[in-house]
Amino acid sequence: MRRKIVAGNWKMNKTLPEGKQLASEVINIVADEGPADVEVIINPPFIHLAPVVQLAAGQDKVKIGAQNCSEYEAGAYTGEVSAAMLRSVGVDYVIIGHSERRQYFGETSEQLAKKINRALEQELQPIFCCGEPLEVREEGAHFDYVCTQLTESLFHLTREQLARVIIAYEPIWAIGTGQTASAQQAQEMHARIRAHLATQYGEEAANKTPILYGGSCKPSNARELFANPDVDGGLIGGASLNARDFVEIVKSFS
Ligand code: PGA
Repeated sequence: MRRKIVAGNWKMNKTLPEGKQLASEVINIVADEGPADVEVIINPPFIHLAPVVQLAAGQDKVKIGAQNCSEYEAGAYTGEVSAAMLRSVGVDYVIIGHSERRQYFGETSEQLAKKINRALEQELQPIFCCGEPLEVREEGAHFDYVCTQLTESLFHLTREQLARVIIAYEPIWAIGTGQTASAQQAQEMHARIRAHLATQYGEEAANKTPILYGGSCKPSNARELFANPDVDGGLIGGASLNARDFVEIVKSFS
């Protein structure tokens, strides 16, 4: 049985008081209603992390992650936040390679490979994002595009290191657009990702790797998406900003 995971990506939303409020609501509702077998992660902005980790202390159903980390260990990198800093405040996960980081901040596969290394050195679990833009899908090149992203940023890892990585497939044309991939489009890409992992790490390791879907996932479509054999949960943007909607998604495994 693979892990089931739902992670909320808050992006650049919520002031600190609003973020603490949202985190408290998620923690309380998950405590009452959250299924025991689903790993729930919230990924607030950097400055919310330390107080939100404190709010989450004393319970283990909701875990805390960051949205990014530096490719460097430490030093003169103004404005950056290191994996060691995240670890020091009690963060357990970090999103790496979100398409917004790749698109708007020019992050390359090579940089992402380094960020994965920094995260693993600090025993953070990377949530590695991959996904194609619309024009690539229209050309029919989406499978190759996503497999190349995986090869370039993950295939230097050992099998033991890969075992700590969570993958999130997020087609760029579905992010924040309200246009979700169909259950069939998600399933066929997830199966392809798993087959690609198997070429490098073997079937057993590939079968154990959680692969989440992201892109306009919401309470009304999560159940259909999560019902697919290779879809192990979701990375949720917009709908994670509302505690009730987010927990409804957490409860969407059949
Ligand atoms: P969305 O974002 O759910 O708002 O489409 C998903 C993501 O970017 O992680």
